Amino acid sequence: MPTLLLGVSGGIAAYKSADLTSLLRKRGWEVRVVMTPAATQFVTPLTLQTLSRQKVHLDPFDLPADSGVAHIDLVKGLDLAAVVPATANLMAKVAHGIADDLLTTTLLALRCPLILAPAMNSAMWEHPATQANLRLLESHGVSLIPPASGELACGDIGIGKLADVEEIANRIEALHQKRLHANRLHGRRVLITAGGTREPLDPVRYLGNRSSGKMGHALAAAAAMRGAEVTLITTASLPVPPGVGAVPVATAQEMLEAVQKHLPGADLLVMAAAVADYRPARVASQKIKKSDEALTIALEPTPDILATLRPLRRPDQLIVGFAAETDSLIPHAQRKLERKGLDFIVANDVSRPGIGFESDENAVTVLGNDGVVANWEVASKQAIAERLLDLFADRLP
Ligand code: PMT
Repeated sequence: MPTLLLGVSGGIAAYKSADLTSLLRKRGWEVRVVMTPAATQFVTPLTLQTLSRQKVHLDPFDLPADSGVAHIDLVKGLDLAAVVPATANLMAKVAHGIADDLLTTTLLALRCPLILAPAMNSAMWEHPATQANLRLLESHGVSLIPPASGELACGDIGIGKLADVEEIANRIEALHQKRLHANRLHGRRVLITAGGTREPLDPVRYLGNRSSGKMGHALAAAAAMRGAEVTLITTASLPVPPGVGAVPVATAQEMLEAVQKHLPGADLLVMAAAVADYRPARVASQKIKKSDEALTIALEPTPDILATLRPLRRPDQLIVGFAAETDSLIPHAQRKLERKGLDFIVANDVSRPGIGFESDENAVTVLGNDGVVANWEVASKQAIAERLLDLFADRLP
């Protein structure tokens, strides 16, 4: 059972900590509640004690049964800590290491990640001191769940409402999952391709496609977060995720050479790039001049990168392709899986609005040699990348 230290500080939103405690208990968490004295004015310790099914902690001088030290005992065995709501005063104290009650003393002794969900009046939230404290907290690695806008308890309209309780519970669980998976690919080498290739026609023009590289870059970030050594062969000018080594390329031929160079050391290759199937048979050395005549451009096939790897790959390597289809998604993807000799293919329907090329979201079906392995409806490319990397991590020998 994962264990959360739930700090409650003294603002009107403190009553929502009761809902959060109840929701997290239902989702299988042990919730250890520590309240500031001011918080007890807004919600009773008895409420939180009943919902958390354990003693609520308030007093730094309340002696533990076994001669321990209260705030040190409280942090033992924790997976995460969260303060909901976090007042401006609580944030200021945590930012500056002030420990003058049981909650702030306990937070100073934490060895696990801390999440703060602030709630306060807009003027307090926007005050330069609060904003400076926020930046300081983030620089200390504290995660923040920003407040929402709406009508505040004082009647003002503006930013400062506590974020939705369900969203807070989801963020707590997501951070926990991220930590659990942090080292799943430690010691593994992962090769990812991203973006659309550009096949030159002349010195200023190229044949390209709509791939932005977002899917491939999200996969590289997810692999790096899981501790892998990641090489990202990319045509995109997106930021390179932290900890990832990038190899910039432009054409299918350059991508082929880079993949062939890096494949021998890799445990996993994921080809998310949209590689051109054809390129101009001849590249003009000067800019092609405009004329009134129709222009015909002869195209020749590019090398099929995945197919060329078939005889080169080791049996202990996992090779994954993507299939971008506009019709008959599964049959077409299935044929590509077989023809290219892949372990998995990730099929996405690029004719659906809002997913696939360029968008921030995707929806995919993963096929293996025994059929459909997973089917994930619309989610952010980050979320899809995380699930894919977990799936591949499980299948690596
Ligand atoms: O980059 P985004 O904007 O985020 O969009 C993501 C995406 C839609 C590009 C991505 O999710 C995706 O589907 N990538 C694969 C696109 C593609 O080229 O699919 P394909 O069905 O044409 O090719 C099948 C597989 O063979 C792919 O893994 C491709 O990289 C590979 N291939 C294709 C041609 C070629 N000459 N050599 C190859 O290895």
